[in-house]
Amino acid sequence: MSITTAMPTASPSTFVSSSLPATRTIFSGIKPTGRLTLGNYYGALRRFVDVQNEARCVFSIVNLHALTVEHDPERLRRLTCEVATLFLAAGLDPRACIIVRQSDVPAHTELAYLLESTVYVGELTRMIQYKEKGRGRPMTRASLLTYPALMAADILLYGSTEVPVGDDQTQHLELTRNLAMRFNRTYGEVFVVPELSRAVVAARVRDLATPTTKMSKDAPEESMGTIRLLDPPDVVRRKVMRAVTDAGREVRYDVERQPGVANLLDILAACRGGTDPAGLAGGYSSYGALKREVADAVVAVVAPLQERYAELAADPGYVEETLRLGAERARAMAAPTLAAAKAAIGL
Ligand code: TRP
Repeated sequence: MSITTAMPTASPSTFVSSSLPATRTIFSGIKPTGRLTLGNYYGALRRFVDVQNEARCVFSIVNLHALTVEHDPERLRRLTCEVATLFLAAGLDPRACIIVRQSDVPAHTELAYLLESTVYVGELTRMIQYKEKGRGRPMTRASLLTYPALMAADILLYGSTEVPVGDDQTQHLELTRNLAMRFNRTYGEVFVVPELSRAVVAARVRDLATPTTKMSKDAPEESMGTIRLLDPPDVVRRKVMRAVTDAGREVRYDVERQPGVANLLDILAACRGGTDPAGLAGGYSSYGALKREVADAVVAVVAPLQERYAELAADPGYVEETLRLGAERARAMAAPTLAAAKAAIGL
């Protein structure tokens, strides 16, 4: 398979149809630190697919961010490839958007340094994720502290106007905006300041075993609360059937008092294309019946994705070619911003 043949005249900087409003540029990234879950699908991948034809889009496997905590090089490489393949399997089209492995574009780390020279230590130590994962521990990697400068670089390099992320990233996005404004004020107008407003997430898929926390790819591999996109159907079914429900028997949509059941209804609603979860509750007389229906619905979503994944995985050259092309376009798109930032700051 070849991608280039399908787009004969596209050059790196002009491949996006010029009839699109030049004002919308979307960037988002997924850290390859775990096997992607149903939460990543509804929180990120599906949304990426939905917007890829509406704006200039750059979707990145942000592997540099995976170095901020202890990691295994081989596993990182494997997960990076798996995430890239899942981007394609979920429906991202390399002719419509840029799919890029972050480490393929040196401009990310170059701009990150300029932004480390813009951000204050006080701002970095205030970040919730740093406080939770690293503060006060001598063996915390320095990159965990500076992570938000790299994330800001990811976003600002492409002139992004929108950054679809989960609400756990709001603080990082606010910092990105502040850094862009500070840099512009101090050195001259270089960066587009991204919007905050469009970053709000839809209902979040929560863990099946702990329905008060989000379903995270970083949960232990063997966690029964996490549905991985590449879990075989029987595993999906087993996990759903074992999901924690709540005291009582009634199927009601009550996030506060019945978080387990509400989560199942949220998942069912998402799988059915975003129907109203509360409205679905009335259709079930028992938790068992609801679970069977949820299991079927999830399997119906992941099965076709897994089929495409298997096809893509059988032709690793295609994924590699996608990333090569993505890197080329991303480098071209990022270059002017990096050059302007360097010139403005005095380099
Ligand atoms: N920090 C994000 C997360 O943990 C991942 C990420 C890195 C990102 N760089 C980004 C998201 C830029 C959006 C834009 O989920």
